[in-house]
Amino acid sequence: MAKDTFARKRITVIGGGHMGSALAQGLVNAGVPRSRITVSDNSRGNLAAAKSADWIFLAVKPSVVVSVLADITGTLEGKTIISLAAGVSVKAMKKRLHGVNCSIARIMPNIPVAYGEGVIGFYSGDIAAKNKRELKSVLGNLGLLVEVKKESNLDTITLIAGCGPAIVSSFVSAYGKRARTLGLSRNAEAIALQTFKGALAYLERSGTAPEKLIDSVATKGGVTEAILKELRRGGFEKIFARAMQSGYKKIKGIHS
Ligand SMILES: NC(=O)c1ccc[n+]([C@@H]2O[C@H](COP(=O)([O-])OP(=O)(O)OC[C@H]3O[C@@H](n4cnc5c(N)ncnc54)[C@H](OP(=O)(O)O)[C@@H]3O)[C@@H](O)[C@H]2O)c1
Repeated sequence: MAKDTFARKRITVIGGGHMGSALAQGLVNAGVPRSRITVSDNSRGNLAAAKSADWIFLAVKPSVVVSVLADITGTLEGKTIISLAAGVSVKAMKKRLHGVNCSIARIMPNIPVAYGEGVIGFYSGDIAAKNKRELKSVLGNLGLLVEVKKESNLDTITLIAGCGPAIVSSFVSAYGKRARTLGLSRNAEAIALQTFKGALAYLERSGTAPEKLIDSVATKGGVTEAILKELRRGGFEKIFARAMQSGYKKIKGIHS
């Protein structure tokens, strides 16, 4: 099913920055022929790229979405737009299209879609059932696809999954720095990365809950317990909750 869809659909990605490139790379890795994907990274290329597409992924900054839609409105009859922009609602986009008969869905992917390891929040907007099935079957190749019925739930996916790779990377980086400081200079980053990969692989393959794995490693009176106690004393969970809450407020603030 997915391969058939790949063979037929012409895909345009408008905005070839961090996310647009990751999406295009993920689609190619998943089997979409390169020749079926056009990436337009400036306003001069958008019109031609939109004209030749069945599916148009909007991967520009939220503040640019409206002007891009204005540029390509004349090409959109009967097409499907899939917006990646955080906080820009289907209703807001429709309003800018002045009654053009096209359909709009939204996705909230994260950067690991480039390697088929992403999380992709999916809100189907007003796209028709067959188109939705095809889109889901293609996007399902990019990682864990999570359909939300309420558009506002995409905000939570933005927070947890969209922002997640940067948050996780900041932990990996802190680990690497510590390892270096403590003398593991040559392999510090590799050890940090593998520690994260290994812990995640263990959780995933064994089906163990994170709390259970903590118990297995943090034996009473041991080294791990001392580290975790100190994190707790320093307010780690509270700081984390506060940090995420500030992101949540920010998302709610950029809504249009
Ligand atoms: N980054 C993430 O992890 C992530 C995750 C989920 C969703 N998103 C969403 O993805 C969208 C893009 O984010 P990003 O991080 O990829 O931003 P980005 O790296 O700045 O990419 C945006 C790209 O769009 C180009 N662009 C600007 N105006 C354009 C126009 N009129 N027509 C075509 N291309 C244009 C920019 O080119 P110039 O640099 O030359 O201006 C840039 O290459 C945002 O709406 C964001 O909410 C991002």
